[in-house]
Amino acid sequence: MQNTSTYTVDPARLEGVVGTPLFVAVAAEAAARNIAAFAIGGFVRDLLIGRPCKDIDFVVEGDGIAFAESVAKRLSAGHVHVFKNFGTAMFMFGEDQVEFVGARKESYSRDSRKPAVEPGTIKDDQERRDFTINTLAISLNAGSLGALVDAFGGILDLDRGLIRTPLDPDITFSDDPLRMMRAIRFATQLGFVIDPPTFDAIKRNAARLDIISAERIHTELNKIIATRKPSIGFNLLMEGDLLPRFFPEFVELQGAEEKHGIGHKDNFHHTLQVLDNVCEKSDDLWLRWGAILHDIAKPRTKRFEEGHGWTFHGHEDKGARMVPAIFRRLKLPQDDQMRFVKKLVALHLRPIALTKVEVTDSAVRRLLFDAGDDIDALMILCRADITSKNERKKDRYLRNYDLVIRKLKEVEEKDRVRNFQPPITGQDIMLAFGIEPCKLIGDIKAVIKEAIIEGEINNDREQAWKLMLKTGKELGSIPLKGMETPVPVISTETEELPE
Ligand code: CTP
Repeated sequence: MQNTSTYTVDPARLEGVVGTPLFVAVAAEAAARNIAAFAIGGFVRDLLIGRPCKDIDFVVEGDGIAFAESVAKRLSAGHVHVFKNFGTAMFMFGEDQVEFVGARKESYSRDSRKPAVEPGTIKDDQERRDFTINTLAISLNAGSLGALVDAFGGILDLDRGLIRTPLDPDITFSDDPLRMMRAIRFATQLGFVIDPPTFDAIKRNAARLDIISAERIHTELNKIIATRKPSIGFNLLMEGDLLPRFFPEFVELQGAEEKHGIGHKDNFHHTLQVLDNVCEKSDDLWLRWGAILHDIAKPRTKRFEEGHGWTFHGHEDKGARMVPAIFRRLKLPQDDQMRFVKKLVALHLRPIALTKVEVTDSAVRRLLFDAGDDIDALMILCRADITSKNERKKDRYLRNYDLVIRKLKEVEEKDRVRNFQPPITGQDIMLAFGIEPCKLIGDIKAVIKEAIIEGEINNDREQAWKLMLKTGKELGSIPLKGMETPVPVISTETEELPE
């Protein structure tokens, strides 16, 4: 089996940790209570491969909550948060989040994640964990202080870059079906391979993901999206039959139809390529979501037009309209982040359109106006969207983008429309014509905005005021006396009142 792991496992890294104040306190408490205590899980895994980790989990063969409270006292640490239902307790120690749990034997019922828990040994605890690499523990007990407790070959799997369940994978996954996504997340994050029997079990148990909450699913999905090359994870989610369980729209992107010898690209692979391209340029999770969703409506807008070939007219607008429902179903945020993604999807063709015609100031101004501060993110997405295999074509497109970017800078410096605030407000119009809120106000504002974008007037109050008067007259309203020149700007900001 090919090892794609980029990490070197180094057990010498364990030595340093047992002398730290936290570990010394845990070892002292274990000795005082005469019960066994271990550091376990992700912290040990990450320590061995030299990956930073701020969550430190301990397991004790006894009451984890009482143990945590005593250790916190020894360290004069802050408040201990107790989660009685889970038998866990947590406190912060410096930057680290430290958690304690009593070792347990668990069995989960088939229809929920609510475990039936009985006290157990370290081995019982290890075998109910998700993957061998996460079962590794460090002993904090006299006689074996600092020794690695590896009951399931975790160190070997860590070394060869293998994701494998400690028990029969059908059991491990039925204890918590989210682990199927975790397997894929760890494989993507660490560059590991999933052991074939474990992967077969994912395919077999995929439908069990349906009992998992959208929040837990999106947390794992976002961790996949946050990796350097999320396409690896998406392809595994697809192969493992998990993707259709929570993201059917993405699955629909698959396939390349052909008619009269004319095909179109497979939008599943294209989208993943765009996503990977974006990831090379930006860590922004929501920009990455923009890449994931930019062509999401292509399957629903696809037509074959005689003489033209395949078209996807309006996929950007339809796609933007699909974003809220997808975010709602996955319980992703519904506020600014969602609106940002929606905007990227809606605008993703605009810069391309600009490269096809002569780049006019007004077209650039219109784009700046619509994109606002998100213009840089949009340009990253658009450049990433060029996935042509024809290098000459690709170069030409990229050069055209450079031109658009230069033009964007020029126009922005000149006209400041990036975060356009209309130089004339609705209040100004009401004052000038002595009118109440009505349709005329919107009409005049639209004319002013168009004139600025088209370059007919500058983005300034004098010129906009003149145009307001002219437009109002044309639409049948007479300005009040004394309103021939702009009145001082009325601040629309609400003042903060002292409490
Ligand atoms: N664990 C598990 N099954 C789960 C979740 C967690 O067995 N569904 C165990 C694993 O031993 C894991 C430990 O609990 O190492 C801590 O879980 P968590 O903090 O979610 O994962 P980490 O492995 O620490 O990885 P990360 O911090 O990257 O999420």
